[in-house]
Amino acid sequence: MAKMRAVQVSQPKAPFEIVEREIPEPGPGSVRIKVQACGICHSDTLTREGTFPLVTYPRVPGHEVVGVVDAVASGVARWTPGQRVGVGWHGGNCGYCDSCRRGDFFACRTFTAITGITYDGGYAEYMVARADALAAVPSELSPVEAAPLMCAGVTTFNCLRNSGARPGELVAVLGLGGLGHLGVQFAARAGFRAVAIARGKDKESLARELGARHYIDSQAQDPAAELRNLGGAKVVLATVTNGDAMAAVVGGLGANGTLMVIGAAPSLTVSPGHLIGGCLSVKGWYSGTSIDSQDTLAFSVLAGVRSMNETFPLERVADAYERMLSGRARFRVVLTISS
Ligand SMILES: NC(=O)c1ccc[n+]([C@@H]2O[C@H](COP(=O)([O-])OP(=O)(O)OC[C@H]3O[C@@H](n4cnc5c(N)ncnc54)[C@H](OP(=O)(O)O)[C@@H]3O)[C@@H](O)[C@H]2O)c1
Ligand SMILES: [Zn+2]
Repeated sequence: MAKMRAVQVSQPKAPFEIVEREIPEPGPGSVRIKVQACGICHSDTLTREGTFPLVTYPRVPGHEVVGVVDAVASGVARWTPGQRVGVGWHGGNCGYCDSCRRGDFFACRTFTAITGITYDGGYAEYMVARADALAAVPSELSPVEAAPLMCAGVTTFNCLRNSGARPGELVAVLGLGGLGHLGVQFAARAGFRAVAIARGKDKESLARELGARHYIDSQAQDPAAELRNLGGAKVVLATVTNGDAMAAVVGGLGANGTLMVIGAAPSLTVSPGHLIGGCLSVKGWYSGTSIDSQDTLAFSVLAGVRSMNETFPLERVADAYERMLSGRARFRVVLTISS
């Protein structure tokens, strides 16, 4: 049996192990992908730390995967060997329950696959994915450019396009990490007045290069007051991992504004008075399906959105992960796995 290198977590909080495994065979309805690149998302902490109830071990993390279709099993019509594809968090669903037939895939309770959580992800030379989890990757994007778009990209793009904001309106992106730096670009390219909010001064020039019209240093300024001075935000896209940082911007929403919560903060306290007084909403947003990823890739080519990346080879996964956790990466850390 041919072997491959993979990075696995054997139990919650265990270090990454680089192991040799058999190259997996795709079952009916699935394909095997020769992985070229895989982004490291903050949500990979769920697998590493065991803070998500659905994770089973040992598990190969990684849900920002780009590679080439290498083998196709029976029952797969859309994909052929040699095609470049991407896989994100949403690894497929049953397709036949009432929710799926309504197109409400996240409500599927029959079968939902989550990449790097309920099945093995992209920190490996090969992985198997369901055909309905794949997005076609345009030739204009390199594997390293495309990989972060499979989670950080689709989550922020899909959230913004479903947020209700219209071109010209004030849209703020809270947090400038892997998700936030793409969120600023999508907001600017979609025609919103984009505001970036981050801690400290050092990210200001990068935020402006990414398309932010305004920058708020949340350590030196009150972000809610600053947003009110700008007229009040229609939407704040909250990508931070901290609930207090989210709560601090709610007062900066304009009337009927929405806090779109993406960051998996442990808790969030919002004043009912604020909500009532401004007819405000707080809404969570969950990634997207494979076709949402394909739309994200296409929009990124159209509008020139690119992730800024730092790359590490697979064997330096521990350093790469620590770099992501440090908050110092500018802005996404991507594992390079094959050419
Ligand atoms: N909803 C979804 O579908 C979805 C999808 C992907 C990821 N996520 C979640 O989104 C979050 C961001 O992921 P990422 O990959 O972009 O992470 P990342 O690159 O590590 O960025 C983390 C962000 O959190 C902010 N932050 C960290 N500690 C903070 C604190 N104490 N106070 C205020 N801000 C703080 C940082 O803000 P500064 O810029 O100010 O330093 C930074 O922007 C994670 O919680 C991740 O699990 C959710
Ligand atoms: Zn992610």
